[in-house]
Amino acid sequence: MSKVSDAKFFNEFIDMVDLCCSLGWNERNGGNMSYRISEEDIAQIKDEFSYDKDWAEIGVTVENLANEYFLVTGSGKYFRYTKADPENSVCIALIDETGTKYKIVWGLVSGGRPTSEFPTHLLNHSVKKDITDGKHRLVMHVHPVNTIALTFVLPQNDKDFTREIWDMMPECAVVFPRGIGILPLMLTGSIDIAKATAEKFKTYDVVVWSMHGIFSSGEDFKSVFGIIETVEKAAEILVKVISMGGKKIRPTAEQIVEVCEEYNLDINKSLL
Ligand code: 13P
Ligand code: ZN
Repeated sequence: MSKVSDAKFFNEFIDMVDLCCSLGWNERNGGNMSYRISEEDIAQIKDEFSYDKDWAEIGVTVENLANEYFLVTGSGKYFRYTKADPENSVCIALIDETGTKYKIVWGLVSGGRPTSEFPTHLLNHSVKKDITDGKHRLVMHVHPVNTIALTFVLPQNDKDFTREIWDMMPECAVVFPRGIGILPLMLTGSIDIAKATAEKFKTYDVVVWSMHGIFSSGEDFKSVFGIIETVEKAAEILVKVISMGGKKIRPTAEQIVEVCEEYNLDINKSLL
């Protein structure tokens, strides 16, 4: 048995929250993060859990996540202060056996609830758990400046948005060969945005919410951070290119495919 605060996944989670904040991706309480904890990790820490709290409705049904535990940021909690006070900033929530309710079993000691985007996180976890045979464990939502800025000027469709970003660096297509999904401005924390994002997650590992931010999913902290970092860097390049009068040259579709073939990656050709 070990303490939650000593667990590797817990410290990676808290460090990631801190890193994202230091990059300016998470002003105030902006953004949220959730991690599906493995059975082995739960076995090590569950002595610290308390099951006294009431069940709460998730708002969506996630049958394949029944009895799973999630580490998740609290609604309204600041990323900036999470590392200094994790027990008041994040919680571990258990999903009930019907996949419709959750219960806080650790954390948020002064009260609170998981992020308002918990329905979106859980639906995305549900889709990715199925598609990746349980490999994807992390879902992250951040508010990076350049990516958001581009949503005000780029076409609002997956194909054009992805291609504009892929054009910026050969690494982009290598890091997210399936491309980027884009959604229009929708009500934050709503069931509608949860369902629309989950639909996009059937195809993509990264989804941009127009005029709001990025959602991404992956196996671990490094890979999800790597995707978002790459999207945001490409977005920054594109903002500069547009500010200098726009592109004068661009890579051909063949050049983008070629680099993916070099790495044996199955690029989503429908976006080229
Ligand atoms: P929460 O504080 O509820 O996590 O909301 C922040 C946010 O970014 C909503 O999209
Ligand atoms: Zn947000």
